[in-house]
Amino acid sequence: MTDTPPTQKTARTLPAWTYHNAELNELEYDAMFRTSWQFACHINDVKNPRDFMTLDLGRDSVIVLRGEDGELWAFINACSHRGARVLDGSGQCKARLTCPYHGWSYHLNGALAGRPAEATFSGTDKSTLGLRAVDLEVICGLVFVRIVPGGVSLKEMWKDTIHLIEPYRLEEMVPLSEPWVDHWNCNWKVGVDNNLENYHVPIGHPGYHRLLDSDITGFINAHGVAGSKSTLRPQLSSNWAERMYQTMAPRLNSDLPAEVHNTWMFFTMPPNIGLDIYGDSMDLFQFLPATASTCSVRYPIYVRPDARREMKVLRYLNARINRQVSAEDKMLCERVQSGLNSYGFEFGPLSSYEHCIHDMHNRVRAACPVTQLDAAPAVGTLRQRNEEMLAA
Ligand code: FES
Ligand SMILES: [Fe+2]
Repeated sequence: MTDTPPTQKTARTLPAWTYHNAELNELEYDAMFRTSWQFACHINDVKNPRDFMTLDLGRDSVIVLRGEDGELWAFINACSHRGARVLDGSGQCKARLTCPYHGWSYHLNGALAGRPAEATFSGTDKSTLGLRAVDLEVICGLVFVRIVPGGVSLKEMWKDTIHLIEPYRLEEMVPLSEPWVDHWNCNWKVGVDNNLENYHVPIGHPGYHRLLDSDITGFINAHGVAGSKSTLRPQLSSNWAERMYQTMAPRLNSDLPAEVHNTWMFFTMPPNIGLDIYGDSMDLFQFLPATASTCSVRYPIYVRPDARREMKVLRYLNARINRQVSAEDKMLCERVQSGLNSYGFEFGPLSSYEHCIHDMHNRVRAACPVTQLDAAPAVGTLRQRNEEMLAA
């Protein structure tokens, strides 16, 4: 892990056009989202046999389910007959998954179980017609899926960082509610950029700044997992909710190791996932591209099972503080998008406090080399130009 950038001499943001270009938005989805680990759910969202969740991601949808034997499976949510979506939302499935179109049914391991009018399908090998499996990996109780197989494992990605998370015992947490989904008027990268630096905290988040002593530089590993540690300030905030949180959290978190009683950890996992970890709870920000200049933000919250009344109060305070911070981040990101859309802004310099953004932008430049161009390619030529640059 490094907390200092190699050199900031040439560090500058991606050019503004990359934040509002429809062809690039499509390319990024193929090159960066389908090939990366995406958060699906927590193991306790699918705790019992036959529990399932679906993750809608761009043009794709993935089913995560727990089989009768307790094993977790992940499949593309498209029937092998003519492609209909098989499941919606979340819940408990039956012993077979049945497509609502013509009734093809699948075992919970994805294998095709049966289809009406079997004799009319001549020459097809049923064993090849199961639901298409996708990569699935669980880390600290968090279930991730990867649509296009291959690439580095989650374990490898988090290898030198996981020790910072393990003390919070995320695997014991349970969902607080259904994931909340919000819509931000900015490109998904604006949201991720914002998550990757604490330079904006003193000005952009006065509440956080009163509450927390933030590591303004943060750290990043070779796989782009970035993080920062913030500690509750010993000096009590002038705001009542923050002050109560400061007072209560260390005491109520006393069953966790002492080093995390009053510590909040913020992580970003490329390309699009923020993880915020507190003693009492955790939340995720999963930025999902919509149009080139809008995104949706999937925001699930998980809490430690703890029936104490005071813990309920602590979680309320946390939610109150973080709701405000999310609103501030959304407003700031939408202001950035407005500037990126306008004439006269091409790119900007990055501070050494923003070295994690520099790393992320280099990942975008590597996956989609066309983003190295200062101006957008002519309409209709972006994919081809990108192919040429990849080949060069
Ligand atoms: S599309 Fe699923 S059974 Fe026909
Ligand atoms: Fe922020």
